[in-house]
Amino acid sequence: MYLKYLERGWASRHLWSGVSNLCRLTYIFISVVLIAGCRGDRYGFDAGERFQDRDGHVEHAHEIDPTPDNFPPIFISDDNPLTREKIELGRHLFYDKRLSADESMSCGSCHIQDKAFTDGLPTSPALHEGEFTRRNAMSLVNIAYAPSLTWVNPTLVRLSDQAGAVFFGEEPAELGGTGNEALILNRLKSVPEYVEWMSSAFPDEEEPFHFGNVFRAIEAFEKTLISNDSPYDRYIAGDLEALSDSAERGLQLFNSERLDCTHCHNGFNFAGPVLSANTVNLEMEFFNTGLYNIDGMGGVPSIDRGLMEHTSRPEDEGKFRAPTLRNIEMTAPYMHDGTIETLEDVIKHYARGGRLIPEGPYAGDGKDSPLKSRLINGFEITDSEIEDVVSFLKSLTDETFLTNPDYRDPFGEI
Ligand code: HEC
Ligand code: HEC
Repeated sequence: MYLKYLERGWASRHLWSGVSNLCRLTYIFISVVLIAGCRGDRYGFDAGERFQDRDGHVEHAHEIDPTPDNFPPIFISDDNPLTREKIELGRHLFYDKRLSADESMSCGSCHIQDKAFTDGLPTSPALHEGEFTRRNAMSLVNIAYAPSLTWVNPTLVRLSDQAGAVFFGEEPAELGGTGNEALILNRLKSVPEYVEWMSSAFPDEEEPFHFGNVFRAIEAFEKTLISNDSPYDRYIAGDLEALSDSAERGLQLFNSERLDCTHCHNGFNFAGPVLSANTVNLEMEFFNTGLYNIDGMGGVPSIDRGLMEHTSRPEDEGKFRAPTLRNIEMTAPYMHDGTIETLEDVIKHYARGGRLIPEGPYAGDGKDSPLKSRLINGFEITDSEIEDVVSFLKSLTDETFLTNPDYRDPFGEI
């Protein structure tokens, strides 16, 4: 079976090399049934198509490949080649408040460039006054390489699907698309530039102006959000002056057996497994880092049970994806619910081997959570070593990324 659960995570897809045509057909059939069944095919996408045609049936020349020299090749779906027109269209749509029911919100309201595409809040105000997202807005840094999207959804693997999920989502409504589809589409269609750009971005379609293409254009823009020019990158490229002594010591600590950060935040993206055009088996990993232990049995706040919501397996309660640490200095507060304010406190949480919440409704010692990952065991660390690790994490801040005019709000509001 292709949806395979690994000891440490998921291997959800098997790419095509060496698979016979019959298998491929069976696979397409199974994945369409499985995935369409799981999350609905409401925007007319075939979820299986993301990995089709990897061995050569590329119909469109990919006009733009945003892969930088020092990273692996970005996976670009054959049905959504990146072109300049499409990326520009996507950038406008990403920042366009006309995409929300009452024209008050855009993707950019919660994903702000100079905060590495987060919003600096524990959770984000949603469309309706007084409502908040249940999780911390994620950074979109190097999002093209994420094997699955959001803090923990092994079935959400495609950026255009994720954009659709936000648009139609109702718990809480973020853009309020559901019930307002025609209103919003007509509003967008009334902008002459959009009509023109939709045609040039999707030249093969007679009627290109539909939500599927709105989300594909946003996906194209998101795939260009590449951060690869931090002091750390310059250091790795040979500029030994790029890191301070403290950051250099921090890098060694980060990589050390004692701290073991790299077990979960590794590779060029300081994250779990990545998706690239070279990926053969797409792996996903989710971990419980011992933030909660409400009932002594590893209980977490009922508002968010983590991976368990997708697998129904009790042992998956409180598991989340290890996100990239690039530009992490800019994305406080931290963790899926934004409950750790500083990087110092994140390191102290790991050093303790779990978080102690002394009182209140979530009281409990995460250190003793039976659901905590075997890799979170606590370690000795001095205050000056904590400072060093923080200096290293700050060396992942990439000013070029944070100020890149290609990522900026074209409406000049953000
Ligand atoms: C009201 C705030 C808000 C708005 C508006 C919003 N987002 Fe998000 N975004 C979030 C939150 C919160 C998460 C984490 C969701 C989760 O884990 O369930 C997130 C997660 C994501 C992720 C996953 C990142 C990752 O590393 O997996 C992507 C991609 C994303 N958003 C893109 C978008 C796009 C595109 C739009 C517009 C169509 C949008 N967002 C609008 C708050 C928002
Ligand atoms: C067992 C795997 C694992 C190990 C080991 C680990 N992390 Fe994490 N890390 C995660 C996961 C999973 C999350 C998200 C947890 C959550 O939100 O519930 C995370 C979140 C973070 C965050 C917050 C990210 C954000 O966007 O809010 C930082 C910072 C971080 N880790 C740094 C470190 C450092 C430094 C170390 C080493 C001391 C380390 N991690 C060790 C898995 C791990």
